[in-house]
Amino acid sequence: MKVLIVGAGAREHALTWKALQSPLTDAVYCAPGNAATGAIAVNTGIEATDIDGIVRFVSERDVSLTVIGPEAAVAAGLADRLAASDRLVFGPTAAAGRIESSKAFAKSLMARAGVATPAYQVFDDPARAKDFVRGERRAFVVKADGLAKGKGTLVPRDAQDTLECIDTLMLRKTVGAAADRIVLEEKVEGREVSLMAMVDGDRVVALPPACDYKRALDGDRGPNTGGMGGYSPVSFFGPDEIDRAVAEVLVPVVKTLREDGTPYRGCLYAGLMVGGSGVQVLEFNARFGDPEAQVVLPRLEGDLVPLLEATARGALGETRASWSTRSSVGVVLASRGYPGTYQTGFPIDGLGTIERDVFAFHAGTTAGPAGYETAGGRVLTLVALGGSMGEARDRAYRNVEKIRFEGMTYRHDLALREVESAVLQ
Ligand SMILES: Nc1ncnc2c1ncn2[C@@H]1O[C@H](COP(=O)(O)OP(=O)(O)O)[C@@H](O)[C@H]1O
Ligand SMILES: [Mg+2]
Repeated sequence: MKVLIVGAGAREHALTWKALQSPLTDAVYCAPGNAATGAIAVNTGIEATDIDGIVRFVSERDVSLTVIGPEAAVAAGLADRLAASDRLVFGPTAAAGRIESSKAFAKSLMARAGVATPAYQVFDDPARAKDFVRGERRAFVVKADGLAKGKGTLVPRDAQDTLECIDTLMLRKTVGAAADRIVLEEKVEGREVSLMAMVDGDRVVALPPACDYKRALDGDRGPNTGGMGGYSPVSFFGPDEIDRAVAEVLVPVVKTLREDGTPYRGCLYAGLMVGGSGVQVLEFNARFGDPEAQVVLPRLEGDLVPLLEATARGALGETRASWSTRSSVGVVLASRGYPGTYQTGFPIDGLGTIERDVFAFHAGTTAGPAGYETAGGRVLTLVALGGSMGEARDRAYRNVEKIRFEGMTYRHDLALREVESAVLQ
């Protein structure tokens, strides 16, 4: 079968790499793809949000399965258009995808489904939002309702700063129309974990949990980024916690969406806060996480394609994927200055020297005359597998040191808390 992967990041490189291992696929295309997917699959160059272009390509090449990577393509209605032309698609309709594209929608959905999530209020008017905050003693986070590429959630230092954050989003419009409406959400404490699942409209098959690191600098300092790395599995979120989150979060939400007439098909990602009072949902994403996909997919034993296809067909049935007991650690190598301004066009050395069980998933690279060059803020995710988290971590950082480019930066503390807590046990 022919498979089309939509997107251009390291997440899509990982999906492409995994899809190519399947004996079921005879061609893998990417839209638009990146320098590294172009070396292993066929880049179409069609932008992820060029819905007409993708629908035409799928029809002309008779693509059997389209897998949507980025949220922008979900929100643009790619799945709706492909389904209308009877094409199999992994990824939700725009209506079901509102679980990510509108945080206010996600909150009201959770309220109806009885899913635990922090208390909240929705505002369209900054003055009213600020009045509300002035009358409250609780601490809040300020979230743009719409898609904002990770820049829509601000975590204020105190009440005064909360008012500032409202102005930043609603008056200074740092994320544009995405913050015409905001959600003020009660600030909660705990440890964060990402739980992704295959959802076929009805059934839910959880993938192993992962933790990602959003802040740019070691010790969770610095600005928020698209993600600086991650690891899987997660010691504080084992099989019992996963089962509970499936039963108490994913299943009720999927059931409510089905009852609304907007069934969810694709990867559903729950961003969870695990605290003293149990698990609360901070947000949903309507797609695989990035970098979560890069650390979870290498742990899948066997074929990804039947899993994607069964999800898209609404036929997950009793499907159980088999996952390696090995651990994975992914380190994002970024350009100096990211997530602010940075320079590109520097040659990347050492990619040919990385060890077995280490994978370089590309995001911001181009193919230059003498090999790959940097072309983005997040350049690549280097992922290592190991028999323990410590081994995976050592292998990841040992191989990071083999790679060099001008201005290369990365976090040094990824998965460190897991390795330290393992030593204490
Ligand atoms: N209610 C909350 N309490 C504490 N921290 C939060 C809360 N909501 C979000 N955060 C923090 O902000 C980050 C981003 O929030 P999230 O809702 O995931 O928005 P997005 O990913 O769209 O930017 C979370 O990963 C978490 O660290
Ligand atoms: Mg998030």
